[in-house]
Amino acid sequence: MEYLTIALAKGRLASLAIDLFSSIGLDCAQMKEKSRKLIFTDEKNKLRFILVKANDVPTYVEYGAADIGIVGKDTILEEGRNMYELIDLGFGECKMAVCGKAELKDKFHKINDLRVASKYPHIAEEYFCENKGQTIEIIKLNGSVELGPLVGLSDVIVDIVESGKTLEENGLCVLEDICRLSARVVVNKVSMKMNTERIMDIMTKVKEKL
Ligand code: PRP
Repeated sequence: MEYLTIALAKGRLASLAIDLFSSIGLDCAQMKEKSRKLIFTDEKNKLRFILVKANDVPTYVEYGAADIGIVGKDTILEEGRNMYELIDLGFGECKMAVCGKAELKDKFHKINDLRVASKYPHIAEEYFCENKGQTIEIIKLNGSVELGPLVGLSDVIVDIVESGKTLEENGLCVLEDICRLSARVVVNKVSMKMNTERIMDIMTKVKEKL
């Protein structure tokens, strides 16, 4: 039997996914040890787990280098890859929102060429251009996005809000919700056809745990 490969987004989602997979009887013991290894095997179930950067999970899954992936909806929306999204795992819950200074609350949709800083340029572009018909200038950042409106780099940001603490501590607020986010199971389209039984068996067990 060939190995099925499961790609996990490194970080918090990976540890929650590991807990979930352990609870359905998969052997994730190796992954719980502190190490820098990137590939782990569950010999009994012929599974291979790989730890990848969140943004790369959809890439591994689309190309079939991973059969299954666990990744946030934010990354799925941003990467726009060709694959199936099968299960909403419910953990890693947060939202994507337009945020900025409170004074812009009723004004930002009226600003021409609104400057939007974000780690998620595609989500921002789609939201403003396609949903709202508003032309914007996207400024791609890689982190600490909340700085944008504070130092005059952008008018607003499009970013993840979880507890809301980062916004609060930096004097910003949510101006508009874009969508709910959470961890999802994604599957390669060819694998789904070739390994239907094995994949559905894992999916069924996962769903029972939710
Ligand atoms: C994320 C996100 C927000 C923050 C939201 O950033 O981009 O900045 O968390 O969480 P909160 O609502 O609970 O405060 P992350 O921690 O990934 O760091 P980054 O700024 O380097 O991207």
